[in-house]
Amino acid sequence: MINDRLKKIETEAKTCIDQADNLQELEMIKIKYLGRKGEITSILRSVGSADAELRPVIGNLTNQVKIRIEELLNQKISMLEDHAFEDSLRQGGLDVTLPGKEFKTGTRHPMRITLDEIKEIFLSMGFRVVGGPEIEWDVYNFDMLNIPKDHPARNQGDTFYITDRLTLRTQTSSIQVRHMLLHKPPIRIVAPGRVYRVDEMDSTHSPMFHQLEGLVIDKGVTLGNLKYTLETFFNALYGDGTKIRFRPHHFQFTEPSAEVDVSCFSCGGKGCGICHQEGWIESLGCGMVHPNVLSMCNINPDEYSGFAFGMGLERMAMHKFKIDSLKHFFENDIRFLNQF
Ligand code: DAH
Repeated sequence: MINDRLKKIETEAKTCIDQADNLQELEMIKIKYLGRKGEITSILRSVGSADAELRPVIGNLTNQVKIRIEELLNQKISMLEDHAFEDSLRQGGLDVTLPGKEFKTGTRHPMRITLDEIKEIFLSMGFRVVGGPEIEWDVYNFDMLNIPKDHPARNQGDTFYITDRLTLRTQTSSIQVRHMLLHKPPIRIVAPGRVYRVDEMDSTHSPMFHQLEGLVIDKGVTLGNLKYTLETFFNALYGDGTKIRFRPHHFQFTEPSAEVDVSCFSCGGKGCGICHQEGWIESLGCGMVHPNVLSMCNINPDEYSGFAFGMGLERMAMHKFKIDSLKHFFENDIRFLNQF
């Protein structure tokens, strides 16, 4: 008899669950059969009053029905939840199964990569990195670097003038002067930045380019210190075994002055296309800071000495990335920039 009753309950519950089309309805069904006052629960409660040998049989049968109803309910609940999710997608919700969008990130400009690498080397050698203004007084750009009023570099044909006293700086050497005026030795700085000269754009010239200036001032600084510093720098940049050589030169603000060649990083000195079969690559200008410059910056040349150097960064980047024309750096062609 109990068996018939249970069967009836199960069939009835199954029909109700099949017909239910929303979660609230299912909840009601659950309460009706499995709730505290539900039909299955009341049968389980009444087991106690049955004959002793029938009790386990009734309990067992009832529990099995209870489990099957629970299963049916859960299946239907997850089916309805799936449908609800699909409906929300159809109505324009978020489709988490679509592949993600690829974000285009920028890359560093080859000039920036080169400068970062060079700065890193000098920082590791104990230098500070400093900056200065691109619009510069002629006093800092020329006079205090020992460049006389009649020097050809001052011509309007070479220098951009904003007023007769203000220029677009032609060299980062102006930063040396500014730094020495504000800081007492010991000084150990590098100063990168843009510089400007009146020039037509071609594969090796540009009216704007980048330099990096170096300056070291202390007691007893010698040409040997300069050579050692540059050798260490180029060995870090181009690899161990890189050689440098000094060629006598002239700069107004250094005495003695030199130009520095570096053994070709590509052929190691044998001669190749990059070094024009020379084995050497012209790399920078340098020298011992002229006593006049020290004096004008309130540093006593009898007490202190120092060296300075200045390098063109475009040339370094062209070597590093084997780029054949300066123009590429400034044209902002995305096909070029994407490669870095
Ligand atoms: N200012 C020089 C130039 O633009 C480069 C240079 C040469 C800088 C020698 C220096 C130096 O500090 O000592 O060509």
